[in-house]
Amino acid sequence: MHILLLGAGGREHALAWKLAQSPLCSKLYAAPGNPGIAQEAECVALDVTDHAAVIAFCNDQRIGLVVIGPEAPLVDGLSDSLRAEGLAVFGPSQQAAQLEGSKGFTKDLCARAGIPTAGYERATSAAAAHDALGRFGAPVVIKADGLAAGKGVVVAMTMDEARAAVDDMFDGQFGDAGAEVVIEEFLEGEEASFFALTDGATIVPLASAQDHKRVGDGDTGPNTGGMGAYSPARVLTPELEAVAMARIIGPTVKAMQDAGMPYSGVLYAGLMLTAKGPQLIEYNARFGDPECQVLMMRMESDLVELLLACAQSRLSSIEPPRFSPDPALTVVMAAEGYPGTPRKGGAIRGIDAAEALGAKVFHAGTATDAAGQLVANGGRVLNVTARGGSVRTARDAAYAAVDALDFADGFCRRDIGWREVAREGA
Ligand code: AMP
Ligand code: GLY
Repeated sequence: MHILLLGAGGREHALAWKLAQSPLCSKLYAAPGNPGIAQEAECVALDVTDHAAVIAFCNDQRIGLVVIGPEAPLVDGLSDSLRAEGLAVFGPSQQAAQLEGSKGFTKDLCARAGIPTAGYERATSAAAAHDALGRFGAPVVIKADGLAAGKGVVVAMTMDEARAAVDDMFDGQFGDAGAEVVIEEFLEGEEASFFALTDGATIVPLASAQDHKRVGDGDTGPNTGGMGAYSPARVLTPELEAVAMARIIGPTVKAMQDAGMPYSGVLYAGLMLTAKGPQLIEYNARFGDPECQVLMMRMESDLVELLLACAQSRLSSIEPPRFSPDPALTVVMAAEGYPGTPRKGGAIRGIDAAEALGAKVFHAGTATDAAGQLVANGGRVLNVTARGGSVRTARDAAYAAVDALDFADGFCRRDIGWREVAREGA
């Protein structure tokens, strides 16, 4: 089968690597891809906002499955346009992608379905938001309603911070994403991510992971898209996972079906493990980045079989996904300046040496310059990923590979996996 993968980051390199291993995949295309993805796929220039161009490409190349990596094309309705042409697509419809695209939509759905989540109010003006803040008090969480590249959330410890965040959002700091805000009760606990596949009716759990959002060691500094991750997150015990499936994921899929907008694709739940049990922080309508990298590193099933069954609404008829019990861990190498303006063009060498140590180096933001040299071309540049018998051994293998890289403009956190390593003990 010919497959088209859309996206250009580390998540898509990990998907490409796993898709290409499938005997069901005879030809893999990626648009736009990156130099790492190019080792697995033929990269093509396609404008994903031009739905007609994507459809024409799929028809010309007899594409049997389209895999959409990032959220923007989902929220833009690309999967609807492709499905209308009879193409098999992995990724939710525009309506279903509101679970990620509108925080207010998701909160209202949770309220209707009795899904445990932080108490909230929606506000469409600064005055209404300030009013709501008065009812919540600090600490409190303020969220831009729409997509804001992971940056539209402020956890305010004081009322002054909260009021400033509201004013920033209504001043247009996040463009249209901030035209409406959600004010939320502050939840306390440890966070874990949980991934499930669903075709709208059947739900199959994939795996858990834990991300590291702050840029600096010890979870300090500004938020990022994620500086590293590991899987599984054992803090989400089998018992808590069962609760999350029964009280959060299951009711969500059912509520979406009842609302006439069945959700098909991967459902990524950000959970807060509170004293009262798991509560939903947010949904994403796609795999996490860099969580996908550790999931793919552990997955033993055929990814094409899974994603195709999901796209064709027959998840109930295939074997459940299998994962290695061995943990995987990924360390993000970012370019100096990230999460502000990253320095572009820094030379990257030593990937072969790093991989010779047993790690896999996924490309997130790389390019090849005119001289053929691999260079940094984004904030998050490489995802150095390894597996081991414990999180500690996976971590040691990943950092050994990091140290074999020669990327003078790069930096990484040195403490990825610290919570789990501490739990594993000496
Ligand atoms: P989100 O983009 O919704 O995942 O939010 C980004 C981060 O903000 C989360 O990963 C949490 O660390 C934090 N956060 C979001 N909502 C809450 C909440 N209600 N209580 C505490 N922390 C939160
Ligand atoms: N790593 C967080 C995300 O993909 O949203």
